Amino acid sequence: MTLAQKSIITVPLSDRAYDVAIAPGGLDRLGLWLTSGRLQSSPGQSTLGRKILLVSNPTVFEYYGQRAIASLTDAGFDAEYCILPDGEEYKTLNSIQKIYDSALEHRLERSSTLVSLGGGVIGDMTGFAAATWLRGIHFVQVPTTLLSMVDASIGGKTGVNHPQGKNLIGAFYQPQLVLIDPEVLSTLPPREFRAGMAEVIKYGVIWDRDLFEQLEAASSLKSYAEVSTDLLQTILMRSCQAKADVVSQDEREAGLRAILNYGHTLGHAVESLTGYTSVNHGEAVAIGMVAAGQLAVDMDWWNADLQQRQVALIKSTELPTQIPPNLSSDEIVETLQTDKKVKAGQVRFILPTQIGAVKITSQVSSDMVQQVVQQLQR
Ligand code: NAD
Ligand code: GLY
Repeated sequence: MTLAQKSIITVPLSDRAYDVAIAPGGLDRLGLWLTSGRLQSSPGQSTLGRKILLVSNPTVFEYYGQRAIASLTDAGFDAEYCILPDGEEYKTLNSIQKIYDSALEHRLERSSTLVSLGGGVIGDMTGFAAATWLRGIHFVQVPTTLLSMVDASIGGKTGVNHPQGKNLIGAFYQPQLVLIDPEVLSTLPPREFRAGMAEVIKYGVIWDRDLFEQLEAASSLKSYAEVSTDLLQTILMRSCQAKADVVSQDEREAGLRAILNYGHTLGHAVESLTGYTSVNHGEAVAIGMVAAGQLAVDMDWWNADLQQRQVALIKSTELPTQIPPNLSSDEIVETLQTDKKVKAGQVRFILPTQIGAVKITSQVSSDMVQQVVQQLQR
């Protein structure tokens, strides 16, 4: 297939517009994508130079690193790589320093490019390094988890964690290309695949009713092996389109973009109270969506049938719908106060009103949250 036959979604950010290409087998054509017309002639951006530093981790590099490097070299690039340890605990300024060291060693210039090959952890860090090295160099995302394909790689949120909180240090910095090769999901552990599916369900609830209904009709959503190629293509296309639509209307999260945090308010509290390990991000978002749906039922903003449909869809992916019993409702409420989405002391929730529509609200009281937490622990 030629590059032109792939599915492409554009994130229309005027002079920083970029493509999200969903291209089965695209990893072996990474070099070709970087020499394609659009990247070489983006208005307001200099042409990509020959030097590329690919950033990855040992797990992903072992599977796909050499293929990516070979493709870049074949296309005429001078490609080097920098391998960071695998895990959220390494999403730190120390890892950014390692990227800088590698950039210095390989003499990256203003026209050089950082390419991330990995999940959201590698993508967020590579983007932050690209935003800051020499005050900004070219940046390309090659996401390899479902979560990073549909969410983290698009929209320009980059950064690292502070010991006191997740993603507290960062910058908005858009990539110039997101290249998604769905075939790399064949090696992704099913638990990570399901974590990404939580974000896909999120898009169904907040934005795209048709996507939600297609997910409901699927025979299985549990792993890459059980999802048909056509359905996976639809899931990727519709999710990336939803993210592109929202980001292009509100790049810096002045308003609308906050809806992408559906399920994340309570989800982040669960994630942080369980130490970011026993419950992963997608699992926490799944629990958070159930909680948000229940709050919306309690406020008469949506009805019990819709909540039942949401819960059934989440359960069908084998994502959790209950809050771990060892967490107390008091500590959850307290942790909510430290959420980045707190505005003027008010915790903001994203609550569903229909399948495909949500509202942002500060009207949820601590008592209501406590009640729902206790309900989701029974
Ligand atoms: P991750 O990057 O930690 O990847 C999960 C695991 O899968 C890792 O062990 C990784 O090595 C492995 N892996 C990745 N691709 C693989 C493949 N194809 N085959 C086999 N193993 C593979 O986790 P994630 O869920 O991709 O990303 C989570 C991170 O993304 C968090 O740090 C979160 O804050 C961030 N995030 C950012 C945004 C954003 O808008 N920037 C949005 C959502 C999440
Ligand atoms: N993942 C939330 C955002 O990109 O805004």
